Amino acid sequence: MEFSTLLTSIQTNILTITINRPDKLNALNIQVMDDLNQAIDEVYENDEIRSVIITGAGEKSFVAGADISEFIGLSEDEGKSLAKKGQNIFMKIEQCPKPVVAAVNGFALGGGCELAMACHFRIASENARFGQPEVNLALIPGYGGTQRLVQLIGKGRAIEMLISANMIDANTALQYGLVNYVVPQQQLIEKATSILSVINTKAPLAVAKCIEAANSVFRNKDYKTELNGFLNCFGTEDMKEGTAAFLEKRQAKFTGK
Ligand code: COA
Repeated sequence: MEFSTLLTSIQTNILTITINRPDKLNALNIQVMDDLNQAIDEVYENDEIRSVIITGAGEKSFVAGADISEFIGLSEDEGKSLAKKGQNIFMKIEQCPKPVVAAVNGFALGGGCELAMACHFRIASENARFGQPEVNLALIPGYGGTQRLVQLIGKGRAIEMLISANMIDANTALQYGLVNYVVPQQQLIEKATSILSVINTKAPLAVAKCIEAANSVFRNKDYKTELNGFLNCFGTEDMKEGTAAFLEKRQAKFTGK
C-alpha cells in the first residue's frame, strides 16, 4: 500500500493509517479522501489486517478539518458531491467489519472530529481538542457529524458544540463519552495497540457482528437532512465570506445572505 497523503504499516495484524499533511494540520483534501477510501477498501479485502488505527502525523493535529482552500469556487453541485463522497467514505469506516479506532493526537476539528466519530471508538492524547467549527465558515458539518455527535454525546451537548463552534479538551471529551481513554501523547499508539491486540484474539465474525448490531441501533436514520442543510449553506455569500476570511486570517463579517 503506497499513498501520497497517508503512511501505512501493518504490525501483528493491526494496520496503522497516519494522515500525513502535518504542515496543513492533516486537513482532508480530495487526495486524502481518495487515499483513505482506497486504504479502507484494502482493510475490507486484506486477510492479514484484523483491525485498524487511524491517527494524524505530528504532535499537534489529528485532522483540522476538510481542506477549506478547496471550498473556494465550488458550485453547489460540486459541494454536494464533496459532502456525499465524504459521507460515503465515513460510512464505509463505520460499517467496517474490522474494528477501526481513532488515535486522536491533537486537533480533531470539523471533518477531523467527523472522521474520529466514524471510527468505532476513540482514544485521545492529553492535548487533543474536539470541535465542529463549521458555523464559523457559515457552513454545517457535511460528513455525518451532525448525526454522530448527537449519537455519541447526546443532543444538548451536541447542539451546543455545533452552534457555538467551541472546542472541548480531552478530559471534557472523556466526560462526554466522546473518547474512551485519555493518555499522554507518547502512549497513544501503544494504548490503541494494546486494546486491539486483545480484540484481535476474539472470533472475527463475532467482532464483526457486534459492530453491525451496534450500528443497527441507528439504522434508518439517513443523513439526507444534513446533506440538504449543508447545501442550503453552500454557495451563500456568508459561506464565501467565511471561507475567504479563514484563508485571509481575518474575522468573518456575516450578513445573513
Ligand atoms: N483547511 C485548510 N488549511 C488548514 C486547515 C483546514 N481545515 N486547518 C489548518 N490549515 C492550515 C492553515 O491555513 C495553515 O496553513 P499556512 O501555514 O499555509 O498558513 C496551517 O494549516 C497551520 O494552521 P494555523 O491556523 O496556522 O495553526 P494555528 O495553530 O494558528 O491554529 C487551528 C490551529 C486548528 C485552530 C486553525 O488552523 C483552524 O482553525 N483550522 C480550521 C479548523 C476548521 O474550521 N475546520 C473545519 C473545516 S470545515
